[in-house]
Amino acid sequence: MTRTLKYFLCGIVALAAGANAAPSCPASTTTPTDPVATGQTFEAEDAVLSGTVVDTAQTGFTGTGYVTGFEDATDKVTFIVDSATTKLYDLSIRAAAIYGDKRTSVVLNGGASSEVFFAAGETFADVPAGQLLLNEGSNTIDIVSNWGWYLIDSITITPSATRPAHQINAAPVNAAADTNAKALYTYLRSIYGKKILSGQQELSYANWIAEQTGKTPALVSVDLMDYSPSRVERGTKGTAVEEAIEHSNRGGLVSVLWHWNAPTGLYDTEEHKWWSGFYTDATDFDVAAALSSTTNANYTLLIRDIDAIAVELKRLQAANVPMLFRPLHEAEGAWFWWGAKGPEPAKKLYGILYDRLTNHHQINNLIWVWNSILPEWYPGDATVDILSADVYAQGNGPMSTQYNQLIELGQDKKMIAAAEVGAAPLPDQLQAYEAHWLWFAVWGDTFINNADWNSPENLKKIYTSDYVLTLDEIQGWRGA
Ligand SMILES: *[C@@H]1O[C@H](CO)[C@@H](O)[C@H](O)[C@H]1NC(C)=O
Repeated sequence: MTRTLKYFLCGIVALAAGANAAPSCPASTTTPTDPVATGQTFEAEDAVLSGTVVDTAQTGFTGTGYVTGFEDATDKVTFIVDSATTKLYDLSIRAAAIYGDKRTSVVLNGGASSEVFFAAGETFADVPAGQLLLNEGSNTIDIVSNWGWYLIDSITITPSATRPAHQINAAPVNAAADTNAKALYTYLRSIYGKKILSGQQELSYANWIAEQTGKTPALVSVDLMDYSPSRVERGTKGTAVEEAIEHSNRGGLVSVLWHWNAPTGLYDTEEHKWWSGFYTDATDFDVAAALSSTTNANYTLLIRDIDAIAVELKRLQAANVPMLFRPLHEAEGAWFWWGAKGPEPAKKLYGILYDRLTNHHQINNLIWVWNSILPEWYPGDATVDILSADVYAQGNGPMSTQYNQLIELGQDKKMIAAAEVGAAPLPDQLQAYEAHWLWFAVWGDTFINNADWNSPENLKKIYTSDYVLTLDEIQGWRGA
């Protein structure tokens, strides 16, 4: 038990007994059976520090200070928290990201790690940080450096409410969605909250998983990257369509993203090669300027690129392959040019994509997947079927922070997917946390085949779990 907690309880005892009881209180040996039955705050300055320090320079902290000095990768503050039973709690972290946007890692009992985003701010604020399944007895909650350079004042844990029933919209947003897209949507809705679809980036890695675990992922994610005109000009030949058709023909589901190489303005230097032209730092293409008028030459190039992609999507439509389509992914990260100028151009471009593909090209086999979490980036309910996040955190945890943020974003009317992850989530954790991700898709090289992210044992556990749907278990989904 931490010192703070003892004084907190002491305060309650003191109140109950009257002010006169206060002076003798710190000597009390009262041990509560469930210290966090109703929610409790733990001050960081009273926790166990490793490589970190207590400071008081920044005003607005609670208690006697806050913890800072998260510089090295292993720097952390460890809270020791008791729970009377195995129980799910909401975690909130009081922090100040005074040097800009930061990310931290929360590690429970030395195992699963989850990532928490601190938006830049000049004052301390309570940041919702997902949920923690505490074991009966003593638990450790580490806040570990990650990006570092933030101030931690305290954490608060409160027993989680049971998740209410989902209210998922009955139909896709595109009223002209074709039979395949409708069947896909209906199937997804039928399993949402009950099971998770296993998924993998790239067909070759999906087949590799089959060799490792005896089970093939239900979903394969492919990348339209090499159909971007500024790459095709330089000799690339996309294979994503053929891979998608192959997986679809064996009864699998297909998700599609697009590392959209900027239409023009690629630096193409030793440091920033043309093939990294989807990165903000590899191009001077300005999406805001391009979208400023429809007669702008660069607006025309954006449309040219969308039309090139439409050709590929139509091939999939003709082959009866409905798709989970996730354009402009990770826009809020700003590391891709479509997110580099903030939310407004990104949302506008998404709207143009939706309109051009749906209304102009009549591509109706798409289920539209949005991939940023922050509300100011959300293009709106009318053009989004599924919300998603890309999460790179080791430990095979349930990613409940992001899941809960997306529940809030979509008011629980949109299904939610872990569209790209570094580590496949363990099913028992997903269920305990009620983190009802519709699917997960692990990134390819250096993630799926890297034991630091996905050990062979965990992959086997995940792929053979009843909770995790694999290719053999989704056969006939069109008629489901
Ligand atoms: C189009 O974008 C390129 C690359 O950023 C830039 O050099 C050019 O000036 C832009 N053209 C117009 C008409 O804005």
